[in-house]
Amino acid sequence: MTILPLQKNGYKNIEHRLKLKYLHSANYLGNILQGIDVIQGLNQTPKNLPPQYFYDDKGSELFEEICGLPEYYLTRTETQILAHCAHEIAEITGKCEIIELGSGSSTKTRIILDAYAKKKLPLHYLPVDVSAGILESSARQLLLDYPTLYVDALVGTYEEALSHLPIKSLPNRMMMFIGSTLGNLNPEKCHVFLSQIQAALAEDEYFLLGVDLQKPQHILEAAYNDSQGVTVAFNLNMLAHLNYRFDGNFDLDNFEHWAFYNQEENQIEMHLRSKRPQTVQLRKLNLQVSFARDETLHTEISRKFDLNQIQMTLMGHGLKTTQVWTDEKGWFALILTQAKK
Ligand code: AVI
Repeated sequence: MTILPLQKNGYKNIEHRLKLKYLHSANYLGNILQGIDVIQGLNQTPKNLPPQYFYDDKGSELFEEICGLPEYYLTRTETQILAHCAHEIAEITGKCEIIELGSGSSTKTRIILDAYAKKKLPLHYLPVDVSAGILESSARQLLLDYPTLYVDALVGTYEEALSHLPIKSLPNRMMMFIGSTLGNLNPEKCHVFLSQIQAALAEDEYFLLGVDLQKPQHILEAAYNDSQGVTVAFNLNMLAHLNYRFDGNFDLDNFEHWAFYNQEENQIEMHLRSKRPQTVQLRKLNLQVSFARDETLHTEISRKFDLNQIQMTLMGHGLKTTQVWTDEKGWFALILTQAKK
């Protein structure tokens, strides 16, 4: 009998503590709708596709599955580091808004929120994601679990969010970019991204970055060639996504997953390799693409960092290291920096 009023109050309370703002510019929507990036990538030699096409609903589910795989040490290791250092982060930053770029599932966010809650610090969370559905559902779940939490969810790209941040309601801010997503940007894009972070942060505001570090090749290659074939499905799903989005006829059986560590560039490269000569159409893009046998389609890079070098790169963007935490094996690092103008 008492359950109903509690649910009612909880629901009202959540509406009061949730803001959801759409930031998509006409430019972003136009780009996605028209698939200009797909046309450009498929017309280049070697062919490539932007990694954001991994993440339709199915791709996001597969990525969640990857995160739990025994070979994919990244998520597990970063979570362990966070569990160990979250209270120190809260101690260092004090009262601050937490902005998370690419929030996705909120397991790691909860560790941070728990640490701030334990110190009786106010909880104000601003998740940023291009997927409104995931953003809203995970925000609602967090609001149910944290009665003092306020969520200001921003639907849009990082670029859009960084140039449209709401006026802060707490004395400081911490921007989080964890999960080693920085590794999916080439050096040029990484520079643009860090410049945007630099421009968005005021003096002494914090930036928390999670990066995967360099390690023996066999460990890296196993993480992107798991024994259950989930990464294969994740890579091939990009073609299925293009098929329904652009009325295409990629035959997934005609491509195979290929992932290896490029030692010179210190990056995992993921490709799809054509098993036979073939021609594919994407009717909505008015595009016909031919593949030779063994021709590759580059879908992703995942850079592996040197801890000193990445800190120097951050410093070059006005982000000075406050504290670094790593795991026992030195496989992954969380770097807390502070903006210095
Ligand atoms: C999202 N990103 C950090 C993952 C990575 O490891 O680069 C994407 C991924 N690709 C294959 N497996 C996971």
